[in-house]
Amino acid sequence: MPDQSKLFAGKKGVIMGVANERSLASGVASFLSAQGAELAFSHLPDKDGRDRNEKRVRQVTDGLNTKLVAPCDVSSNDDIVGFFNKVGEAFGSIDFFVHSVAFAPVEDIRCQTVAASRAGFLTAMDISVYSFIATARAASELMTNGGSMVTMTYFGAEKVLAGYNMMGVCKAALEASVRYIAHDLGPKNIRVNALSAGPVKTLAASAVGDFSSMLGMNAAIAPLGRNVTNDDVGRSTAMLLSDWASSVTGETLHVDCGYNIMGSPGHALERLGKK
Ligand SMILES: NC(=O)c1ccc[n+]([C@@H]2O[C@H](COP(=O)([O-])OP(=O)(O)OC[C@H]3O[C@@H](n4cnc5c(N)ncnc54)[C@H](O)[C@@H]3O)[C@@H](O)[C@H]2O)c1
Repeated sequence: MPDQSKLFAGKKGVIMGVANERSLASGVASFLSAQGAELAFSHLPDKDGRDRNEKRVRQVTDGLNTKLVAPCDVSSNDDIVGFFNKVGEAFGSIDFFVHSVAFAPVEDIRCQTVAASRAGFLTAMDISVYSFIATARAASELMTNGGSMVTMTYFGAEKVLAGYNMMGVCKAALEASVRYIAHDLGPKNIRVNALSAGPVKTLAASAVGDFSSMLGMNAAIAPLGRNVTNDDVGRSTAMLLSDWASSVTGETLHVDCGYNIMGSPGHALERLGKK
């Protein structure tokens, strides 16, 4: 019998985007598992006959309340259908879905946006934006009793953040997709939101130029005077997925220690000893 004192007792869902223990999705997974959720995870397919990707993901998921770990490259329609079929077989229906996936060729993110290649742009939009449309559709088919979805975005969608470049364009499209999909799925009682996380040092973040200075600047400017942790992201994602947010849909929630509200350096000059 599920422990009814837990927020996700009896709830089942899918998390895409665990690469290793530093992934934002890993913080989400730990929190949801501790709160009683049963989880299914995807990993990048291992094409060379070895199982490196699967092993890395299992290092995170083995200690959790995991029912399924299966491959899915989100740039393949067949992979998405195959993965969600397995989820359907394991769970029947699901209650929540977390999409924490993005990719851009490093040469197209390390250059000015105006210099990005057509091929790089299409790849980045495919994996970072269309993948949410396609997986949200597949997940919604399993949400027969309503449900909730969250995708991960970044403030670079709204304002120019040097170094984020073309990925800012992708995140703007992702946030717009969230609003349109929230409209589409609202009648099925499925909520769709984006969580705009402050910077965290992960594998994907290493593609962004000068990420360490970005971390220092964010902590200095943010009203709370620090950067977010995976635990912060896990808790707030769980809040959006849970009934605590039962009337919230189509939103972008900033989980960034307040950085996005600032229009000046705020406390940064004192904090950096320049005042
Ligand atoms: N780290 C940050 O500072 C930060 C801040 C805000 C938003 N985000 C967003 O959070 C999400 C997760 O990123 P992260 O920082 O945890 O990094 P991460 O590298 O740990 O996660 C990225 C995930 O995308 C997956 N992925 C890439 N291409 C894929 C494909 N073709 N098919 C399936 N999966 C694929 C990777 O396997 C990995 O699991 C991304 O959308 C990212 O833009 C990150």
